[in-house]
Amino acid sequence: MSVKVVVVGSANMDMVAFAPKLPAPGETVLGTRFEMACGGKGANQAVACARLGAETWFIGRVGADAFGDILLRSFQEAGVRINFVRRDPETSSGVALIFVDEQGQNEIVVAPGANGRVSNEDIDNAQNVWQDAKALLVQFEIPLVTVGYAIGEASRHGALVIVNPAPAPREPLPDEWFGLVDVWTPNEREIEGLTGIVVADMESAERAVKAMLDKGAKAVVLTLGANGSLLATPEFIRHYPAFPVQAVDATAAGDAFAAALTVRLAEGAPLEEAVIFANAAGALACTKVGAQPSMPTRKEVEEFLREHPLLL
Ligand code: RIB
Repeated sequence: MSVKVVVVGSANMDMVAFAPKLPAPGETVLGTRFEMACGGKGANQAVACARLGAETWFIGRVGADAFGDILLRSFQEAGVRINFVRRDPETSSGVALIFVDEQGQNEIVVAPGANGRVSNEDIDNAQNVWQDAKALLVQFEIPLVTVGYAIGEASRHGALVIVNPAPAPREPLPDEWFGLVDVWTPNEREIEGLTGIVVADMESAERAVKAMLDKGAKAVVLTLGANGSLLATPEFIRHYPAFPVQAVDATAAGDAFAAALTVRLAEGAPLEEAVIFANAAGALACTKVGAQPSMPTRKEVEEFLREHPLLL
């Protein structure tokens, strides 16, 4: 039977330009091609959770516009329950402008639109969503006050709380969140935003995760791109190397990772096993172009893990 997972967050229409290199400030770069795909960290994570086999409920907002129609269709095609997605007539759907270079690295600017209006009331309107929910997964592309409210509600109902602190917050997070969140999944930039520590190598990465533990975090999985991930709990710190793949587009790899970690934890897997599963999902997401189109299925992740047994 599928586990029930709730994702609260953003949905964006991604406008993706591919170019030989990312532009420096003030520079114009001639690109190679353009693609449009459904994205948004929250929506990507919800689509990934559903493809990985969870009964997935999404709480968020899209505009009453053509992009909103497409975003809702993408949720439905993946099997995500959208009973609590609000169509907001006051503003447009979220849009992300994304540049991807030849190494698959990206730069993203998000115009939040309806995501910026996801409110506590939207969470309250979804009261019965918490019944039997095993986990909440949330990110920072919606107002932080709503994120905090969702964390409080999930933890009050006994669900695991997984926070993907992306993009990096521009203000300090409330101290009480650290006691309520079960697992944090920042990347290097996001952990720098949370701790002030610049991650340049494994030594600084360890200092950064320890700083999160000092703040009261129960568990942190720092994603390090091609360098894998670093799991830290008050008991131990362990590095997991990345699975070797030919990366074409790293967009949403962190979303695949956070979703896969959430699904396995919701299923009752131990943290270390869930991290390996998440590493595989993140690696697979890098092998395809686009955010939601690159979210892997359960079968794909399990086959990939069978083909890469050495890292298990
Ligand atoms: O994490 C990738 C996502 O970030 C993209 O889909 C884009 O919409 C931004 O939200």
